[in-house]
Amino acid sequence: MRLLVTGGAGFIGANFVHQSVTSRPDVHVTVLDKLTYAGNRASLDQVADRIEFVHGDIADTALVDRLVGGVDAVVHFAAESHNDNSLADPWPFVQTNIVGTYSLLQAVRRHQVRYHHISTDEVYGDLELDDPKAFDESTPYNPSSPYSASKASSDMLVRAWVRSFGVRATISNCSNNYGPRQHVEKFIPRQITNLIDGIRPRLYGTGHQVRDWIHVDDHNSAVWEILERGRIGQTYLIGADGERDNKSVVEMILEAFGRAPDDFDHVTDRPGHDLRYAIDSSLLRTELGWEPRYRDFRTGLEATIDWYRENESWWRPRKAATESAYAAAGEKVL
Ligand code: NAD
Ligand code: DAU
Repeated sequence: MRLLVTGGAGFIGANFVHQSVTSRPDVHVTVLDKLTYAGNRASLDQVADRIEFVHGDIADTALVDRLVGGVDAVVHFAAESHNDNSLADPWPFVQTNIVGTYSLLQAVRRHQVRYHHISTDEVYGDLELDDPKAFDESTPYNPSSPYSASKASSDMLVRAWVRSFGVRATISNCSNNYGPRQHVEKFIPRQITNLIDGIRPRLYGTGHQVRDWIHVDDHNSAVWEILERGRIGQTYLIGADGERDNKSVVEMILEAFGRAPDDFDHVTDRPGHDLRYAIDSSLLRTELGWEPRYRDFRTGLEATIDWYRENESWWRPRKAATESAYAAAGEKVL
């Protein structure tokens, strides 16, 4: 199979490329990535001789048409992915997440190429802490931030291209990923690298918000199941029953560093901060037989901490600029 992976130099995309190259020798991967601040060529160093790398923009219709014309399937990870950035400047989110997805959809339509669209549970909005129901495939869309609204928009384009033009597409909406190669702007890597640098972890607001954590390798194994055996036009939710509140996650990271559980700062809350995400992945499990491999969050988190300790050269060049951006956005210790 010839596969085009967009956003393959980002966190989830790079781990997907590693998993694909390692476990599927019959797959030839071409990565298309713009190398924004979030993309990192070094994330693909270990597989560089097994893939083709194209530096370019998914909104470049001529380039996308040429690349899509030469593959059997597209897995579309490329996106502006960080909520805080979308609050500071929404435009790149509209351009990449909506216009970029449109460009890919037109190309897969023209060349009749199988397409898998990577999306997020954030399109469903948020849940109360005591809501007994989790998100499932029938939950109405209700996005809160410019990021989640742009992802919701892109999902809607995919649904329309399936129905109106017969595009052979599937969509997956996954919960919060953790694991190696995640940018230091994101919650878990930010706290780990802060502690390596002797800075106290930073918790937005109360820290009572809940996220449903899944290891990135489990997300990617689900994507492969859907790509190979998913029903065309179907949406699948991906989650691994990993609900934790942010404060507990910070306490667990502090414990791994041998620090006191209250050795963190509360900082300015995120405007419009979603309270809780939770995924019901029954459809994926019953229909496709998928199961997560990382069932113990603590073990996965400790392995992730080790990865950041052992790969300082990967994250160090981005750390100072990331913290300066948070300070410039007005983040203050409460
Ligand atoms: P990331 O920010 O780490 O990586 C995004 C990648 O896309 C980067 O390599 C960047 O250079 C590339 N990119 C950005 N704009 C581009 C453009 N116009 N053309 C080509 N490449 C471009 O993101 P991530 O966390 O790996 O997320 C990947 C996908 O998974 C996104 O679609 C995101 O919405 C979705 N998702 C993420 C999570 C999560 O927890 N991180 C959970 C569910 C879904
Ligand atoms: O749910 C899936 C989504 O998960 C993806 O679609 C997004 O691409 C991905 O970034 C992630 O979104 P979140 O906004 O949930 O992730 P983030 O890592 O930014 O924050 C996780 C939680 O931690 C959130 O409640 C905000 C909080 N937080 C974040 C940072 C960076 C803190 O308390 N302190 C921090 O320093």
